[in-house]
Amino acid sequence: MQERVQKFLSHSGVASRRQAEQMMLDGRVTVNGTVVRELGAKVDPAVDSVKVDGKRVHGETPAYVLLYKPKGTICTLDDPQGRPKVTDLVKGVRARLFPVGRLDFDTSGALLLTNDGELANLLAHPRHHVARTYVAKVKGVPSPDKLEKLRKGVYIEGGRTRPARARVLSVKEKNSLLLLELREGRNRQVKHMCQAIGHACLRLERVAFGFLDITEMKPGEWRHLLPREVEGLRDLALKSEPGDEAGRGPRRAKKRRGDEAAGAGAKADRRD
Ligand code: URA
Repeated sequence: MQERVQKFLSHSGVASRRQAEQMMLDGRVTVNGTVVRELGAKVDPAVDSVKVDGKRVHGETPAYVLLYKPKGTICTLDDPQGRPKVTDLVKGVRARLFPVGRLDFDTSGALLLTNDGELANLLAHPRHHVARTYVAKVKGVPSPDKLEKLRKGVYIEGGRTRPARARVLSVKEKNSLLLLELREGRNRQVKHMCQAIGHACLRLERVAFGFLDITEMKPGEWRHLLPREVEGLRDLALKSEPGDEAGRGPRRAKKRRGDEAAGAGAKADRRD
């Protein structure tokens, strides 16, 4: 089946679609030996030989994985310190997966991995506001005023945070668990937000990314997304606007997961 060269390249994990277009414009891409700068050019991956900088690009089936990232793993693909990588946990998938956004080394939780550069860009783009839901263990118990500050926005590096949801889930001894739902993914954002209200974050877990949650998984487990979940993510990334509910959709998500769990059997390595 024919597809645009830049789409083939982004689905192959070489680059995002925009980067692939730039590679084409720069004359780095050949199809069957001929430089292709025309952005409308198409290829049939089954028969055509596509090369970037002289290296053959083999088309990959798009793969989408939800990983319950354990603490003590890194999201970067190259680590000079040789720490365990999230990609090492996803065994048996031949696609070159990369994480959509990042979680810190000491943060656990829902992490999406894919080789679909286009969807990854859509989801990670700040304009699309996909909800990220976290449970943070913080020092002390934030007052209602401080929670309100988190909701309205606090000043951290890079400017004021967008409106968020924030509530106390439970209090244990001198610490508390907060549920936070953000629609942006800035560097160490939750930790900085908690610090900004004077309650250091002691432990952090992302319990959901959009409608994908990890409630039925264990740390280190992963599963393939179902086709309709992939479509759901695409819709979410394209539709979600600030303040709407599309980035979260917990009811739909619960229903969807319930339906799928009933029919799908294995939890940690589901394939469709
Ligand atoms: N916010 C943080 O502070 N750390 C993460 O890993 C994710 C969100």
